[in-house]
Amino acid sequence: IRDLNILAIESSCDETAAAVVHNGREVLSNIISSQIDLHKLYGGVVPEIASRKHIEKINQVIEEALKEADVTLDDIDVVGVTYGPGLVGALLVGVAEAKAIAFARNLPLVGVHHIEGHISANYIEHPDLEPPFLCLVASGGHTHLVCVREYGKYEILGRTRDDAAGEAYDKVARAIGLGYPGGPKIDRISKEGNPDAVKFPKAHIEGAEYDFSFSGLKSAVLNYINGCKMKGESFDPADIAASFQKAVVEVLVENSMKAVEDYGMYKFAIAGGVASNTALRAAMKQACEEKGVKFYHPSPVYCTDNAAMIGAAAFYEYLSGTRHGWDLNAVPNLKL
Ligand code: KG4
Ligand code: ZN
Repeated sequence: IRDLNILAIESSCDETAAAVVHNGREVLSNIISSQIDLHKLYGGVVPEIASRKHIEKINQVIEEALKEADVTLDDIDVVGVTYGPGLVGALLVGVAEAKAIAFARNLPLVGVHHIEGHISANYIEHPDLEPPFLCLVASGGHTHLVCVREYGKYEILGRTRDDAAGEAYDKVARAIGLGYPGGPKIDRISKEGNPDAVKFPKAHIEGAEYDFSFSGLKSAVLNYINGCKMKGESFDPADIAASFQKAVVEVLVENSMKAVEDYGMYKFAIAGGVASNTALRAAMKQACEEKGVKFYHPSPVYCTDNAAMIGAAAFYEYLSGTRHGWDLNAVPNLKL
């Protein structure tokens, strides 16, 4: 393959991001403008505010990405962009911007699935990683166990029946008064808590061993807290956080390792915001070592939403012939 620079854009939720990626795996720049401080005031992402902020920031973020990569649009060969799933108004900002640049510069346009982006984050720091492999994608919106057959070819083995893992983290964090986004905060205070303090239920779904369910666990945590409050008993947020986290991590590890075994895979990766969780990384690493399976995970900055991962995914989509037209639209419920 000849040298290819991709300008990648990501705006599906509350991060406005642009990156320049060389040949799918070398990140020349990765700029992320986070809106977290704005949404924090409301305890979660407010879609209308997200779209407006994306519009305000996107040009600046792209300029910075080009500058940091020390390139101009003349050096860009392909424009890649997330077109779903996500918040429709937020996605539209990135899609419109990508189309405008590609049209003005007469460049190929490649739309990318957000989850494909998360999975592809693993290619960035692991030059040896190639399909087939299994990947657990756990973020604020998704919990998928995916078999990556070939580049761009995915088979979904399991998914959550209700809340995503990150969503459960965020809701539990809110209940114990930690604020948004809860994942990193629960991760941190769990280190001071006793994971065996409270026994929370782990959901396993009969006949669908790779599927997940986190709403029962979330309710159990909320009920426990309300029960303590009603009885006038105090509770230790660190103990609750650690006990909740233990239940989440165990289910994620058990289902993943079952799939690894059933599919005879010797490569396993994690991706998505929750993949930056220190307890999950440690538990997955150990479980993979015990099975003699090679374990891959992105650095935290490539776990949460970013555009470098979209550039990595767009590269392999481009190589396999994917091209989108000027009618590319945001698809909020896009299927993998
Ligand atoms: O991938 P991401 O940035 O956005 C989505 O595509 O959803 O994931 C964000 C989610 C949030 O729910 C956040 O609480 C969670 O990832 N998260 C974590 C950690 N860092 C982020 N969850 C657990 N532990 C962490 N260290
Ligand atoms: Zn994401």
